[in-house]
Amino acid sequence: MFKILEKEAVAHNVWKYVIAASDVAKKAQPGQFVVLRLHEQGERIPISISDWDRDAGTITLIVQAVGHTTQQLAEMNAGDHILDLLGPLGKPAVIEQVGTVACIAGGVGTAIIYPEARRHQEVGNRVLTLIGARSRDHLFYQEELAAISERVLVATDDGSYGYKGFVTDLLRQLIDDGIHLDQVIAVGPIPMMQAVAELTKRHDIKTIVSLNPIMVDGTGMCGACRVRVGDEVKFCCIDGPEFDAHQVDFSSLLRRSQLYERSGTSCNSTENMGEGCDGQCHK
Ligand SMILES: Cc1cc2nc3c(=O)[nH]c(=O)nc-3n(C[C@H](O)[C@H](O)[C@H](O)COP(=O)(O)OP(=O)(O)OC[C@H]3O[C@@H](n4cnc5c(N)ncnc54)[C@H](O)[C@@H]3O)c2cc1C
Ligand code: FES
Repeated sequence: MFKILEKEAVAHNVWKYVIAASDVAKKAQPGQFVVLRLHEQGERIPISISDWDRDAGTITLIVQAVGHTTQQLAEMNAGDHILDLLGPLGKPAVIEQVGTVACIAGGVGTAIIYPEARRHQEVGNRVLTLIGARSRDHLFYQEELAAISERVLVATDDGSYGYKGFVTDLLRQLIDDGIHLDQVIAVGPIPMMQAVAELTKRHDIKTIVSLNPIMVDGTGMCGACRVRVGDEVKFCCIDGPEFDAHQVDFSSLLRRSQLYERSGTSCNSTENMGEGCDGQCHK
């Protein structure tokens, strides 16, 4: 059992949880995630480790309530317990001193980009952060990112804060202004990451994306999270979640996620998992 120590609303429908999980906190690295299950009948869902405190033995998760399990989590409070929390899973992000790095986040991707941007700053990179959100109410972590970034640029779809438009417009502006970028990292909705990848490919800028496909077991057994990268099929949970953006087949990734949305149901039942199971019941 993993105790929720703190809960705080950080944006519209987005909650921050500080959870007692000392074993996870000890090993957590930027880019990694946990798979949690709230109770015996609960589904397993992957959530990125947004921060950690090794001394206190805590991890921080930022969760947007979008469906069944995340809504249930939104109803839990400090003092409540999460049944299972497995992690850290996934490969840590590869972060080296490269020069100038643009960290681009869309929506709840801001939670995932934060520990990576912080590590980039720690290793001596110049960090430029670009955040995209639906509106002002959907923004969070601005202060935290400002503390480690040379610049934070914000775009909102409705113009209620910062630039009115897409975060990719801000990236295009930076490139057009002649700012040399040694690396780009993008985390957010698939179309956003695809647009970033197409733009940076034209300018030959190394780009990493953190993918968030449907996951079932999170251990490489079920195949639900498969993604085509170059000529290979990779499993996001064990080979990722970070990949070379210029090699990712975003079209098939998008098709698979839309299929899941249409089916509206996921199969997290271990008895139904097996070879060929993609976690979608298609009922
Ligand atoms: C590696 C990884 C890290 C993630 N990190 C975070 C995080 O830090 N914070 C956070 O809020 N979310 C994160 N997610 C997404 C999160 O796992 C899903 O939002 C969650 O599983 C939805 O579960 P649910 O039961 O609430 O929704 P469901 O009832 O299963 O689905 C509701 C809606 O959410 C959509 N959905 C379900 N799973 C995903 C998914 N993986 N990605 C996008 N949409 C999905 C469905 O298409 C549907 O429209 C991450 C996903 C992955 C793979
Ligand atoms: S979730 Fe990755 S293989 Fe099952």
